[in-house]
Amino acid sequence: MKVTVVGAGAVGATCADNIARKELCEELVLLDIKEGIAEGKAQDMMQTAALLGFDTKITGTTNDYSATAGSDVVVITSGLPRKPGMTREELIGVNAGIVKGVCENILKHSPDAIVIVISNPMDTMTYLALTSTRLPKNRIIGMGGTLDSSRFKYQLSQQLGCSPADLNAVVVGGHGDTTMIPLIRLATWNSIPVTKFLNQGQQKQIVNDTMVGGATLTKLIGTSAWYAPGAAGAAMVEAIVRDEKKLFTCCVALDGEYGQKDICLGVPVIIGKNGWEKILDFGLNAEEQAAFNKSADAVRSMNDVLKTL
Ligand code: 2OP
Repeated sequence: MKVTVVGAGAVGATCADNIARKELCEELVLLDIKEGIAEGKAQDMMQTAALLGFDTKITGTTNDYSATAGSDVVVITSGLPRKPGMTREELIGVNAGIVKGVCENILKHSPDAIVIVISNPMDTMTYLALTSTRLPKNRIIGMGGTLDSSRFKYQLSQQLGCSPADLNAVVVGGHGDTTMIPLIRLATWNSIPVTKFLNQGQQKQIVNDTMVGGATLTKLIGTSAWYAPGAAGAAMVEAIVRDEKKLFTCCVALDGEYGQKDICLGVPVIIGKNGWEKILDFGLNAEEQAAFNKSADAVRSMNDVLKTL
């Protein structure tokens, strides 16, 4: 197996680090446009191999896409991160050009790759990757809901005083502060609905804190977060390379599912060796479906901005 991570910033490097530690592939390539960054971080990670005991061979390259040839999975993290007070959507102008160029270069050398998109605004960048490459839809997967669901489980675990690993909870819709929908009605703690243990005020707080999870960290750190985004990307790579058939909420092309078409948006999917293999219908109630439709409207108007660039 060969995996490429494009963008050796904090998210890309953390994703690569997780991939190597889990030995998800024999070959791992880190690519960045900034001279020396990918080579340096790749070497730094390789110098942990003896300590951590992994065999994945990591190499770094400055923009030489031939080094990525034959990748089975490519994770795109390139682009500007947000600064405090910025929305993910404000990054569209710069990041659209970067993501489009990366997709073209990647596919020249790895025409069969499955592409995971992390760059923001993630829903629109996933749509751009799909429409500009015209790859089969199952091979383009946006990461947002995987990260947001993990943040949702964190917030739930804090209130419940339980292990996040004992929770099942998903966030659907867009990967934006106002577009994501943490489905608290369907969240369970070892199969018991969490709503049994939380009052209305607590539920509202958890949902709100989840929605602004990324913004809260950006304010604290001064740039956008990387540990959870990187780990989310690596978890998706793992599900693909190990053909796990794991359920994640991911941003994928909808063709009538959840009442939407011609859009990439977060829904529960099964991830395996073919990319996203199946969309699951979680049976949203009227209120949740209305929120999903509103989220789709917001993402669609962001996708429309692509036409003006
Ligand atoms: C976040 O929410 C990077 O969009 C990512 O932290």
